[in-house]
Amino acid sequence: MEQKPLFIAFSTQKGGVGKTAFTVLLSSYLHYQQGKSIAVVDCDFPQHSIMEMRKRDQGLVISDPHFKRMAYEQFKEIGRKAFPIVSSNPIDALDDAKRLVSDSKSKIDIVFFDLPGTMNSKGVVSTLREMDYIFAPVSADRLVLASTLSFASSLNENLISIGKSSVKGMYLFWTMVDGREKTPLYEAYDAAIGELGLSLLNTRIPDTKRFRREMDETHRAVFRSTVFPPDKQLIKGSNVDDLVAEISQIIKF
Ligand SMILES: Nc1ncnc2c1ncn2[C@@H]1O[C@H](COP(=O)(O)OP(=O)(O)OP(=O)(O)O)[C@@H](O)[C@H]1O
Ligand SMILES: [Mg+2]
Repeated sequence: MEQKPLFIAFSTQKGGVGKTAFTVLLSSYLHYQQGKSIAVVDCDFPQHSIMEMRKRDQGLVISDPHFKRMAYEQFKEIGRKAFPIVSSNPIDALDDAKRLVSDSKSKIDIVFFDLPGTMNSKGVVSTLREMDYIFAPVSADRLVLASTLSFASSLNENLISIGKSSVKGMYLFWTMVDGREKTPLYEAYDAAIGELGLSLLNTRIPDTKRFRREMDETHRAVFRSTVFPPDKQLIKGSNVDDLVAEISQIIKF
């Protein structure tokens, strides 16, 4: 029986909180490390930063013997190619995703949609309402928090809680958490989020430089790549493994 893939988006109104970073990290972790079959619809027109990353990654796999060998070893081990990425935009995203799924020779488990912030982008909300799950990264910055809470409450009140969408769950999660920040601060915020009727993941992602660690000619361990999973040593302390475990449990994967 043909099973429909799950549609998932990391989404917020605010820019620069990690929507694209988490889309790439989770796609790579699930596809290359956990054997799930992933596809990505890059709706961040016209930047298409995931597609651009794929071009850089693939360029290095072709030109750099170190990465070429890594890719060869990986393919031998896991027997699967790089996950497909399509360039799209918020308006055509769903049609492009459906085409990608129906054209795919193998079964796709999850399609991740990387959307721009909702602020001034047509089609974002109509695409979001077709997601099965939405995860909203939020940092403990007053402006980010305020805008994320208003974004999430409005989606919740206007679409999700009244059944006007496919969304089975929307979860906020803390990211860019500064180790020096006090737990009581987060506990106060957590309570406020709960009072708004919004759900929050337990996992908190720290603020850490490794998020910028891409493939390059230094051959240092890679965190963010579209062709390899995040390096196991770099995963330690990033809490990305906890995030994947928590999300997998929610989406019953
Ligand atoms: N937990 C983190 N710690 C440190 N840096 C992070 C973290 N998460 C993301 N970043 C960095 O923050 C920057 C912005 O992230 P990203 O591009 O994923 O945000 P975005 O929400 O997709 O932004 P946009 O709205 O512009 O598309 C990137 O340089 C990324 O590497
Ligand atoms: Mg982005």
